[in-house]
Amino acid sequence: MADDLRLDGKVALITGAAGEIGTATMQLFAARGARIVAVDRNETQLQRAVATLPAEARALAVTADVTREDDVAAYVRRAVEAAGTIDVFFNNAGIEGEVAPIQDYTLENFRRVLDVNVVGVFLGIKHVLPIMLKANSGSIVNTASIAGLMGSPHIAVYSASKHAVIGLTKSVAMECSTTRVRVNCVCPGLIQSRMLSAIFEGRNPNARADSEKVLNRIPAHRLGLPAEVAQTVAFLASDAASYVSGSAYTVDGGRTAG
Ligand SMILES: NC(=O)c1ccc[n+]([C@@H]2O[C@H](COP(=O)([O-])OP(=O)(O)OC[C@H]3O[C@@H](n4cnc5c(N)ncnc54)[C@H](O)[C@@H]3O)[C@@H](O)[C@H]2O)c1
Repeated sequence: MADDLRLDGKVALITGAAGEIGTATMQLFAARGARIVAVDRNETQLQRAVATLPAEARALAVTADVTREDDVAAYVRRAVEAAGTIDVFFNNAGIEGEVAPIQDYTLENFRRVLDVNVVGVFLGIKHVLPIMLKANSGSIVNTASIAGLMGSPHIAVYSASKHAVIGLTKSVAMECSTTRVRVNCVCPGLIQSRMLSAIFEGRNPNARADSEKVLNRIPAHRLGLPAEVAQTVAFLASDAASYVSGSAYTVDGGRTAG
């Protein structure tokens, strides 16, 4: 493998690390040599995910709620205390929220999705960026979605939140343009996962994410895998992406190409 794809000596902080995309990505980061700080609000699942990492990852698990500024400040502080710095930040925790026509949403659900998917991403950037700017080096990868590039029925607030993540990504990348800190996001498409099944079943209890009708709208004619999202994130995290900032990378089998 090209040396600049390796993450040896880098400290990688991952939120939503207990989830499917977060776990696949931290496993790939670790395989490429990174030291891992794993954050999630689900302590049991987080411990289980971290237990899959090799000893060389010297993984630290921190239970935190990304919507609480005290928790965010604490996970950043613990990462720096344990590992000295943060080189890579995968700002990934997110929720799908209720799946319903917008007129049926509760205000509570609407705010909850924005709180996790937008405020959580904002707080992560706010607290990690000063460390990267001080080092004049770093890569932030936020998790958006193809729902941030197009409308998505019955998950309107999720779609709005992911549009916001893309806007945050591009704006912060511009603010960092005179530094060696890069800021990008990934836009996964239909990834075989609990979240995707929840969205399809929420729209129609009999619908399946991998039905012929759904697959026919994806040029690759299949769902993606969390490990395939991880490959793009690991590239963006690495020095191989040294000229990449402000991008929203789709990992969607061509779903948004047409
Ligand atoms: N699965 C897909 O098809 C898909 C597609 C596009 C984008 N995404 C995005 O990818 C990211 C990861 O999704 P996933 O499929 O791994 O979902 P997942 O539900 O498996 O993982 C999400 C993780 O985030 C954690 N989390 C949620 N709220 C939190 C909070 N307030 N504080 C801390 N942790 C919190 C959960 O405990 C969970 O472990 C999300 O941002 C999601 O919106 C997923």
